[in-house]
Amino acid sequence: MPQKTNAPIGVFDSGVGGLSVLKEIRALLPAESLCYVADSGYAPYGDKSRDYISERCEYIVRFFLSQQVKAIVVACNTATSVAVDGLRAWCSVPIIAMEPAIKPAALHTKSGVVGVLATTQTIGSANVNRLIAEHGQDMTVLLRACAGFVERVELGELTGQQTEHLVRQHLLPLLEQGADTLVLGCTHYPFLAETIKSVVGDNISIIDPSAAIARELKRRLSDRNQLTTDSVRGSERFLSSGDVCQAQSIISQLWGKPVVVNLL
Ligand code: DGL
Repeated sequence: MPQKTNAPIGVFDSGVGGLSVLKEIRALLPAESLCYVADSGYAPYGDKSRDYISERCEYIVRFFLSQQVKAIVVACNTATSVAVDGLRAWCSVPIIAMEPAIKPAALHTKSGVVGVLATTQTIGSANVNRLIAEHGQDMTVLLRACAGFVERVELGELTGQQTEHLVRQHLLPLLEQGADTLVLGCTHYPFLAETIKSVVGDNISIIDPSAAIARELKRRLSDRNQLTTDSVRGSERFLSSGDVCQAQSIISQLWGKPVVVNLL
């Protein structure tokens, strides 16, 4: 049975990275109620086994269904590439998921060299290989697993010397090989955009698919006549499977205002 139009939308990530997507959703759909799960107690996902990631995703999706959500956004590229097909096979509400922006990058690049920044699991996934096969024939795709980026964001260390050093280490080799376009293939990475820009300069394009995911969510809800009819500002609820005090501090920092985080 379809959920009510004023039901919440569930959004989740391994940690706080999915807040980059949640921000775009909030900007596009101000009246919707949003429920965000940071699976911080089990993060990072990027170097875990497929079974581990799939089990966590199933647990969170079942939680959202128990909260009667009307749609679920997998705001995590790693979870998408490992688990989304399995989830869609049984989940009773629409699942909107991430996709590394390889197609837009192919249309955008002038040098014909594109860097895809993501976790180890995403880089090695069938999903990324399929996107490269479909859209990457006329370009060189440099895949880069950016070890350490997720941890910097989880610590709230978005700028500063150590973060800049790490960003240089991962990105300068891509620039040396001629990349003029970088795809942010992990939802944590938009929070490093300021540092990334300071390292790569203004001539390199950075593609973040978060806004496109928010538009896709709106389209899917609209097709099902499930956009809320409320005109007041929607609520936000935050949950974490990790240390709640720590989550509250970092989520408040990244969300831009103090929030309360409850235990998942
Ligand atoms: N934010 C996630 C992604 O988009 C997961 C990062 C991780 O937990 O390793 O891939």
